Amino acid sequence: MDTPSSSARVCVERPFYDLHAEAYDLIINDSVKPWCDAVDAQLAHASSILDAGCGTGRHAAEMIARGHRVELADAAPRLLAQAAARCPSARTQMIDLCMLPASDYDAVMCRGVLNDMISDGERAAAIAALARSLRPGGKLFLDVREAGASRERADGKPRTRAGFTSRTTWDNGLLRVRETYAMGGDVTEYHFTMRPWTVESLTGLLRDNGLRDVAVGGGAGRRTPDRLFVVAS
Ligand SMILES: C[S@@+](CC[C@H](N)C(=O)[O-])C[C@H]1O[C@@H](n2cnc3c(N)ncnc32)[C@H](O)[C@@H]1O
Repeated sequence: MDTPSSSARVCVERPFYDLHAEAYDLIINDSVKPWCDAVDAQLAHASSILDAGCGTGRHAAEMIARGHRVELADAAPRLLAQAAARCPSARTQMIDLCMLPASDYDAVMCRGVLNDMISDGERAAAIAALARSLRPGGKLFLDVREAGASRERADGKPRTRAGFTSRTTWDNGLLRVRETYAMGGDVTEYHFTMRPWTVESLTGLLRDNGLRDVAVGGGAGRRTPDRLFVVAS
């Protein structure tokens, strides 16, 4: 891809990632421990890790505390600034993940990001970019939404946390999310679209990009059953 992907453009538009980025950690406050335990258990000490779509750097900070060398990448400047402040030793890149250059990380972790990529082309570009960021034998750790369980959960009911309300409906393979932000004395509404993954489409793309050893399990530390934890090498 040689222009910013549509998900990268959304990173400076979605209030969750930009206008209300300072509220991100209030809204997303689940423990980082289960994810970090699951990743850490499969890595040698002091591995080099790219956190691709790092958000505010919560998981990166924990992996640094465990002795790994972590770099941060995200396309949302206000989230990345929080991650940089939280992880002062980490190199940061403000970049569209679909355009990551080839590299040689021991591991790439990409948690809760690939659902933001809607078109087949963008999804293929993102998986190719993540795969080429790894050294030979390196490991890719993904958290994605699974399509069948996501469809069941998309009941249109309001779910509210810390002034943020979302209502999600299913639309032919897509999740249509109506977001309401009641923050700072203002109410903002934003319509966001996600596309969850089938195991077949994800494993197919991973294998097309040379990652032949793919293990798929239930989400690591997720509160709901609609997430997958995927390790590919
Ligand atoms: C739901 S958040 C997850 C953040 C973090 N990984 C976590 O688990 O808390 C999705 C992140 O992906 C980033 N993102 C989405 N599309 C991207 C793209 N094309 N390039 C870079 N970052 C992207 C967003 O800015 C946001 O930080």
